[in-house]
Amino acid sequence: MSKTIQNDVSYKKYIIDNNLQYFKPHSTKIEKSFADEIHSGLNRSSKYISPKFFYDKKGSNLFEQICSLPEYYPTRTEINILKNLKFDLPNYLKGDFRLVELGSGSSVKTRLILDILSETQKKIEYFPIDISEILTESSEMLQKDYSNLYITGIIDTYEGGLEFIEKYDNKKNLIIFLGSSYGNFLPEEGKIFLKRINSTMKKEDLFLIGLDLVKDTKILESAYDDSQGITSKFNLNVLSRINDELDADFVLKNFKHLAKYNEEQQRVEMYLKSLVNQSVIISKSNLLLKLKQGELIHTEHSHKYKISQIKELMDKIGFKIIQNWLDTKKHYALILVSKK
Ligand code: AVJ
Repeated sequence: MSKTIQNDVSYKKYIIDNNLQYFKPHSTKIEKSFADEIHSGLNRSSKYISPKFFYDKKGSNLFEQICSLPEYYPTRTEINILKNLKFDLPNYLKGDFRLVELGSGSSVKTRLILDILSETQKKIEYFPIDISEILTESSEMLQKDYSNLYITGIIDTYEGGLEFIEKYDNKKNLIIFLGSSYGNFLPEEGKIFLKRINSTMKKEDLFLIGLDLVKDTKILESAYDDSQGITSKFNLNVLSRINDELDADFVLKNFKHLAKYNEEQQRVEMYLKSLVNQSVIISKSNLLLKLKQGELIHTEHSHKYKISQIKELMDKIGFKIIQNWLDTKKHYALILVSKK
C-alpha cells in the first residue's frame, strides 16, 4: 500500500455516509501537545496561553455568541461583504472549484460561498479544516440543506490540514480563511503561514482571506470587551478547559478579563489578570503555576491592518491580488489572491 495521507496511520478515518467523512489525528497527539504548550507558555515570566485553545465545545459556542453581539462588528460586516460577492466572485471562478475552509467557523458564511458555487457547479466538494469537534455538527447541518455537497472534514490544526490537502489531487481549490482569524498570528508567524498556503496552492487555485482593518480605538476595545460580558466568559473559559482536560485547579473568580488596543502594534491584546497572589496546579502539564496579584496571562492578539499593508504583504509572499472588497465604513476587507 502506498503511503498517502488517506491511509496515514496518524489519522483515523470516519466514514459517516456517501457524502460525509472525517479525518482526525489520534487523540494522544492532540492531548500531548496541549499539555506541553500550556507548560511552555506558563512556565516563564511573561505568561501566555495560545488563543487556539479557546475553542473547545463551550468556547466555540461562546464565540458564536460573540459573533452576534452588537459591539462585535467583524462578523456582520464580513457577512454583508460576502452577500455582495454573489455578483462578483463568479467572474473569477472559471470551472469547478473545491471549497477548502480553514476554520469551519459559522456556517452562515460557508453557505454564502456554497450558494455562489452552486450557481455554476452540479457537485461541490467541501473540505473544512478545524481543530474543534464542532466541525462535525456544522457539517451535518450543511449536509441537510445541500444535497449536492460532498464533505471531507479534517479535525486538525491548519498546518495539519494544509499538509492533508497538499497534492491531494489536481482539482482546483478555493481556499477560504474568513473571520479575520489571520489576526491571531504575529506578523512573522503570519508570513510563514501565508507562504505555507502559497506553497500548497496550485497555479489555478484561489485564496480568499478576510481581514479586519485599523479603526477607532473605542470601536475596537468595545468589540473585545462587550457590555454583556460574553467575551470575558470566552476568555476565562480557557482556564476551565485546562481544569477539565489537564487536571488543573484554576479558580475563575480569581481572574479578570482585559482587552486593550495597542496602537503601535495595531492589535487588540487580551489578557487574564490575576486578582490575587495564587498558586495553581496543572497536573498533566507537570506545573505549579505561581501568579502575583496583578500579573497578566496573555491570551490573544488580534491584529488590524491597513489596505496598503495588506497589498505590500501579499506581494512579498508571492500572491497576486485579484480583487478586494470593503464595506462602506471601511471596517473590514475581503481579499482574493492567486499565486504570482
Ligand atoms: C476568531 C480570532 C477572529 O480576534 O476577533 C473575538 C476572536 N476574541 N473576541 C477575533 C475573538 C475575542 C476573533 N478571531
